[in-house]
Amino acid sequence: MKIVVVGSGGREHAIALRLARSPRVQHIIRAPGNPGMARLGDCWPAVSKDNFGEFIQRCKDASVDHVVIGPEAPLVDGLADHLRDAGIPCFGPGAAAAQLEGSKAYSKAFMDRHGIPTAVSKTLHDVSEIPAALAELPEQVVVKASGLAAGKGVIICEDQQHAQQVATDMLTGQLFGDSGKTVVIEEFLQGPEVSILAVVKGTDALLLPTAQDHKPLGDGNAGPNTGGMGAFCPGTFTSAEDLDLVRRTIVEPSLEGLVKDGIDYSGVLYVGIMWTESGPKVLEYNCRLGDPETQPVLLRLKSDLVDLLEATAGDGPSTASINWDPRHALCLVLASEGYPESPRKGQVIHGDLFSEPNEDVQVFHAGTAQNSAGDVVVSGGRVLGITALGDTLEEARALAYERASRIDFEGKIFRGDIGEYRWAPRPIHTD
Ligand code: AMP
Ligand code: GLY
Repeated sequence: MKIVVVGSGGREHAIALRLARSPRVQHIIRAPGNPGMARLGDCWPAVSKDNFGEFIQRCKDASVDHVVIGPEAPLVDGLADHLRDAGIPCFGPGAAAAQLEGSKAYSKAFMDRHGIPTAVSKTLHDVSEIPAALAELPEQVVVKASGLAAGKGVIICEDQQHAQQVATDMLTGQLFGDSGKTVVIEEFLQGPEVSILAVVKGTDALLLPTAQDHKPLGDGNAGPNTGGMGAFCPGTFTSAEDLDLVRRTIVEPSLEGLVKDGIDYSGVLYVGIMWTESGPKVLEYNCRLGDPETQPVLLRLKSDLVDLLEATAGDGPSTASINWDPRHALCLVLASEGYPESPRKGQVIHGDLFSEPNEDVQVFHAGTAQNSAGDVVVSGGRVLGITALGDTLEEARALAYERASRIDFEGKIFRGDIGEYRWAPRPIHTD
């Protein structure tokens, strides 16, 4: 088979690594991928809504068998619809379904309509609506840009005065541009966070092993939210009862809601959950695999990834027989100082970034590029995701941190407590 992986982050590197192991895959193309993926496949230009037509023509000319769409932006922009219309099988939902991630206003209305547990919220389009909305919500709220904002469009507010200011800045386009022109204000929830990822076709779903992300920048969950500073798999909430509760109260009603709304979902449905005192509540939906959750989850995948991808285009994922490595996996993100607001870029990265004598430890590239001298340099906020398998979480953790200590670049930042941090009520960040 010839498979294209769309995207350039650590998630896409992990997907390509697993595809490379499949006896069914002869040819991987990355569009555009990153230097870490260079040995795994050929490089095509980056894909965005401006060049969907060209991309699809290339796929046809090259007789591509399957396209895996990693990031949310091309999904929200309808790449999966265009590919399917052209008869090219792909992994990922169409634009209508991807609205669950692309518009928080849409996803909140969806959850309210279908009785899915979530924070009480108000959706606003104009500054004049803020006071009435705040009057109906608790003192402590979270203000969210409705549109895509690379995981940064959520501000946890200290009090209602702060919320008034943040919501005003968003609605007037000063924060997050067009993404903030519709705003969701919702009650602040407390509890540990869990990411549940399901591979879905219609109402058929296969839950992947749970993964626990570490969203805030600093140790002890201090500082601003990021796209994720590390993750481990299996996560903490892995008892059969916990998973059953999530399946019954969240995953199944979500899939049934989509069907009722006439939306055909296929691909990954990622549900970000906060485990509150009154049970699990949905913080957000994503329409793709998580980053960095995918890195530890896929390191544990023993079966052929192609079978799982194809099942979403065929008989449904529950028909695929999927085996997981019983060990624990942990991904430590090395980021660049200034992340998430304005990461420093261009520094040369020192250390071995390519050869992996031990299959159980992988250096996934994310924000890296190669300069004209052939050096690998920092090109984004999250630079590398060092991911390791171990018999215990502690062992996976020790392996990942040891490997990371042998990679260096100016302004390297990382959390010291990935896999160790246990939830505690969160300090409010007010920057
Ligand atoms: P979201 O993009 O909606 O998942 O939000 C990003 C992050 O903001 C989440 O992972 C949480 O850490 C935090 N967050 C979002 N909504 C809430 C909420 N209602 N209460 C507390 N924290 C929240
Ligand atoms: N790690 C969070 C996300 O992928 O959205």
